[in-house]
Amino acid sequence: MSTTQEIPATSPIGHSTPRVDGPLKVSGKAQYTSDFHFPGLLYAVPVEATIANGRVIKLDTAAAAKMPGVRAIFHRENIGKIFRSVPGQGIEGICDERRPPFEDDVVRYYGQYIALAVADTFETAKAAADAVRVTYDKEKPNVETHLEADDEPDQVLTTFGMRHRLDSQRGDPDAAFATAPVKLDETYVTPTETNNPLELHATTAIWEGSTLTLYESSQGVVNCRSVLAQMFGLPKENVRVISKFIGSGFGSKLWPWTQCPLAAAAARQLGKPVKLVLSRKMMFQSVGHRPRTQQRVRLGATPDGKLVSLQHDYVYDRSMLDAHHEDCGEATPFQYSVPNLRVTFGRAKRNIGAGCDMRGPGAVPGVYAIESAMNELADEVKIDPVKLRIMNEPKIDEGLGLPFSSRHLLQCFELGGEKFGWSKRTPDIGSMKRDGLILGWGMAGCTWIAARFPAEASVQLRDDGTARVACATQDIGTGTYTNLAQLASYKTGVPLEKIEVALGDTSLPEGPLSGGSLATASVVPAVFSAADNAIASLLTIATTTPESPFQSRNSADLAFEGGRIFVKADGRSGGVPFADLLKRANMGLVTGSGRSEGTFGNPKPEFSTHSFGCHFVEVTWQPEIARLRVSRVVTVIDAGRILNPLAGRNQIEGAVVMGIGMALFEHTSYDPQNGAPINSNLADYVMTVNADAPPIEVHFLDFPDKEINEVGARGIGEIGLAGIAAAITSAVHHATGVRVRELPVKIEDLLA
Ligand code: MOS
Repeated sequence: MSTTQEIPATSPIGHSTPRVDGPLKVSGKAQYTSDFHFPGLLYAVPVEATIANGRVIKLDTAAAAKMPGVRAIFHRENIGKIFRSVPGQGIEGICDERRPPFEDDVVRYYGQYIALAVADTFETAKAAADAVRVTYDKEKPNVETHLEADDEPDQVLTTFGMRHRLDSQRGDPDAAFATAPVKLDETYVTPTETNNPLELHATTAIWEGSTLTLYESSQGVVNCRSVLAQMFGLPKENVRVISKFIGSGFGSKLWPWTQCPLAAAAARQLGKPVKLVLSRKMMFQSVGHRPRTQQRVRLGATPDGKLVSLQHDYVYDRSMLDAHHEDCGEATPFQYSVPNLRVTFGRAKRNIGAGCDMRGPGAVPGVYAIESAMNELADEVKIDPVKLRIMNEPKIDEGLGLPFSSRHLLQCFELGGEKFGWSKRTPDIGSMKRDGLILGWGMAGCTWIAARFPAEASVQLRDDGTARVACATQDIGTGTYTNLAQLASYKTGVPLEKIEVALGDTSLPEGPLSGGSLATASVVPAVFSAADNAIASLLTIATTTPESPFQSRNSADLAFEGGRIFVKADGRSGGVPFADLLKRANMGLVTGSGRSEGTFGNPKPEFSTHSFGCHFVEVTWQPEIARLRVSRVVTVIDAGRILNPLAGRNQIEGAVVMGIGMALFEHTSYDPQNGAPINSNLADYVMTVNADAPPIEVHFLDFPDKEINEVGARGIGEIGLAGIAAAITSAVHHATGVRVRELPVKIEDLLA
């Protein structure tokens, strides 16, 4: 798109920068959604279905409604109209559970909301919700874990529109597989995983006449506005969504869930602000999860490891009504060079809540399967797994037939191998030892999409020498406040501490989702163009204001750098700071607006744009006590220019920690009797904790991607989770000789 700019070493871009919002967070001043309080605020607690399949026959609300402090018990008969919504153009009107709450009496999953208690206090609302008596017509739920694809047409509707179930195809994969000298045919299973951000999903809804304000824990306030405007039959100008600080979401907060319209509907009926905060248990039921996947991978290869055929056929589970697409085949067509390939998918309906994006949706389970298969092939043909990948490195994206904008995967392997000491690996099972422990060494590659969403931003320069940058994107905790400050500081010369960043509010210029690891790349051109426009206005003011020292000049003779306006020929020292100029002109501020187009979903791209990387993992194994630990990880990431290496490293470390959970701990189990997620709390849903986190070494390659934006920055929020589970299971095999193909790896698996 644009030429990558030379960024001087003194620039805030590329400089490790502590979070500008850090002091607000550690001092407790940062207001998360459920921290906002309003006069007359009421509290809502949903009544959750305790069956997963059936029908509500009777709701007895009498006892609940009589409790002191209870304002209302809402249900299908009295909640008022809530309309259905439809997706619009691009990222608009998207949600994973489309059915408006209470639309019918059918219960399709455990925990579905069937009534809502509203009271003066949270405790009263909870007691009232518990006091609602429900009679069901109950049927056996289907939460079967073995997945057979439902009988569906070749093209199916998904959250993102129609998708061909034949995802990608080239050559003749069947024939090439049939005649391949070396064949691998294995199925890899990833379990349901539940997004568990620290901050619970929450909504506070306030009506003023026909305008609705929502404080919503959201990774996409602009999309949330479009969904809620539709659900309440309002022009979108009448809906404002605010999400100032987010205690993460890992994807589950990308699109609004049903608690949001419920809070809004209750507030409408009662004429008071209503707050609804989910319980941790509800987080496992009604706000999404990573679907279970079952992926058959068939590799055909020559005896020296050259791929001749790759087939990736995957099935995932979905809710009864919804169609979140778990795009496991996203990276399969381009990651390796192979002339014959096919990727297909199928889906299986279950009595569970809607699935959703979870950090690295699709690609994370998909890359796990493909990288696991590559590691097995390497063992089969007795070639080092790094060498096998180098042998199969593609020159172009063979799926799209396009060049990569920037791909440095081989350099990742080289640096990672060197830092890890990979050349010392001896391939025999259990052949490496240290301090009485058996060591297992494994590796895997990784990749994740890179693109931009459309974005708008504004930059203000003010007469006190400060600046403000505004964009209706969000900071889910990854460092977006800081990124925007860095970008604005670089362009305006205003130091970071004098830059105000405003985001998380639909009243600001429309910004991108905090999703797909695309927010940073998306805002760069919008902020730059907003800053350029603000500076252009300054130069006009400089040449047209009688009090300006440049009044006689042509604006083409002037330049702006480091916060000063000066005559190019005279150099920067002769100029004036912009604050002086604004004061002389009696102006409080000057504002520039910027917008940039998206590239995500571009039907005619010129380049294949992705980030790449690899993980090298060491595990220790004590067979005497069946103790397995991940003891060391080296990760190398090629994600273009890194805006903030401090926050960037933090993203990758966090993803590696989460990847240890994916490999060894995390899975949500459904009770076959009542369909409930059984381990729906943070004690029983096991995640990686500090004690499980090994030393993690993160390295970034620094190859700015000139196709993505002016600074060459792609995204880093998700890629660190791709591949890590395959590297761990491969290390587990190296240590124990046990090949685990269903995550997470359990102690029982290793005792076999
Ligand atoms: Mo990410 S799963 O796109 O929030």
